[in-house]
This record gives sequence, C-alpha cells and structure tokens, in this order.
Amino acid sequence: MPTSNLLELHIEAKRYATQTILDRLSLNVARGEIVSLVGPSGCGKSTLLRIAAGLDLHYEGEVRINGSRQYGPTPHIGIIFQEPRLLPWLSVADNIGFEAGPGGGRDPRVAPLLAEVGLATSGNAWPKQLSGGMAQRVALARGLFSRPELLLLDEPFSAVDAMTRMRLQALLLSVTRTHNTAALMVTHDLDEALYLSDRVLLMTSSPAGIDRAYHVTSPRPRDRRDPILGELRAQLLEHLDAPAID
Ligand SMILES: Nc1ncnc2c1ncn2[C@@H]1O[C@H](COP(=O)(O)OP(=O)(O)OP(=O)(O)O)[C@@H](O)[C@H]1O
Ligand SMILES: [Mg+2]
Repeated sequence: MPTSNLLELHIEAKRYATQTILDRLSLNVARGEIVSLVGPSGCGKSTLLRIAAGLDLHYEGEVRINGSRQYGPTPHIGIIFQEPRLLPWLSVADNIGFEAGPGGGRDPRVAPLLAEVGLATSGNAWPKQLSGGMAQRVALARGLFSRPELLLLDEPFSAVDAMTRMRLQALLLSVTRTHNTAALMVTHDLDEALYLSDRVLLMTSSPAGIDRAYHVTSPRPRDRRDPILGELRAQLLEHLDAPAID
C-alpha cells in the first residue's frame, strides 16, 4: 500500500485486565519527522511506544511501517529507553553491535557510530566506566545500529543533568538529520519537546487519546528563548490535565 507516512498507528483499544488504557487513538509519523508525546503521568505514553515498537502485541488495532503491517520488533525501528540498558559484560563496541551477534563490536557500522556520538576512543571501555551521559550516547548509537528509519525514545534524557541533557538533545538532532531518521519521543519536558520537535502531541488520560497537536514551525537551529516556543509552551500547559512533573 503506497503511503507518505513512515509510521501509521491505530489503536482501537488497549486494555490491562478490565481497564482500558488507550481508546481509539491514531498517530502518524512522516519520514524524517520528529514528534514528541507529552501528557500526564500514567496516561499511557510508554504503553503506546511499546506497541509502536512491536514489543506489545496485545491490543486491538494495527501498526504499519512503510505501509506494511508490523507484528513484532523490526530493524526499521531503534528503541532508546530512559536508562541506557547496556549489557555490563560486553564492551561499549559490542553493546552497540549487539544485534550483529557475538563480536558485533567489530561490525564496520560500529566505529562510525562511536565517532558520531563522540566516543571514538571508548569502544573497548566497559559500561561501568561510563558517565550517565556517555552511557546514554552508547544507547543512542546502539539504537542507530540497524540503520532504522524511526527512533522511538521514552524519556531518553531525563536521568542526566541539565547540561548533558542539552548536549544529548543536540546529538539527537544531528543524528536524525544525518541519517534522515524520524523520531517519536516521550518526554515530560515541554521545553525539550518544543525545542526538538516538528509536532508535539498532547495525550489525555482515562482512557488516553491524543487531544491536540502543536506544529512547531520555527526553523532550526532553534533559540530556546524563541517567543513562539514560549507561546506554544503556555498553550500546552493550559491543556495538560496536571502540571508536568519530571
Ligand atoms: N503491565 C501492566 N499491567 C497493568 N497495568 C499496567 C501495566 N503497565 C502499565 N499499566 C498501567 O497503564 C497505565 C499507563 O501506563 P504507562 O506506563 O503507559 O503510562 P505513562 O504515560 O508512560 O506514565 P509515565 O509518564 O509515568 O511514564 C497506567 O495506569 C499503568 O498503571
Ligand atoms: Mg512512561
């Protein structure tokens, strides 16, 4: 089926036991587009991301990548979680190339990725030797290893300090641009959402749907103090069920 969208997701219903978490929710992501999902804690953002990733198949609805139904994890999608989830017994390089199997660190894709995330000399290091920001850069490189067209990120920068967070945001923008990778990111940080995204989607709870979409048209590189972003932030805050917490 020809389509201009990279990801087309429609969830008719997602339930846990008798509780409906997601109800008739549709979401598309175009090629190369950066979309953020914000919404109150517990509204179903991680649940939605897991369904998009093919990690949760227990729902009514469908997920399509490039027009094809998706029934599980796929190399088209790279996933980055809040914590790096590196395997402690593998070197940094082997973590990045994990998908290629034993000795994956020697895969020719690994060295350029290490350089791209600023860790060219850290391939032989162990995860425990890394700072939080470095470990998350390794996770980003691992997410890019299969050359995915879409990155799914669940609060990827919320465990690092403010300066590191800004650097990781810049890195995400540069890798998505370089690889023409789209991104769908969950965040509690409205400024982060507005700084990075082409579109910010606001989810509501009980049961969750997508309430509003905000298009951010300010050209990149963006100025974090751009009054247009400030205006959008005010609108988002007004419509959030509860104040954003992080
Ligand atoms: N495995 C599970 N079994 C039962 N209920 C679950 C399960 N996972 C999540 N839930 C429930 O589903 C709802 C949505 O959870 P989810 O983790 O998707 O929310 P979230 O929007 O990501 O929240 P947060 O912003 O706090 O990360 C919550 O009410 C949660 O309690
Ligand atoms: Mg969550």
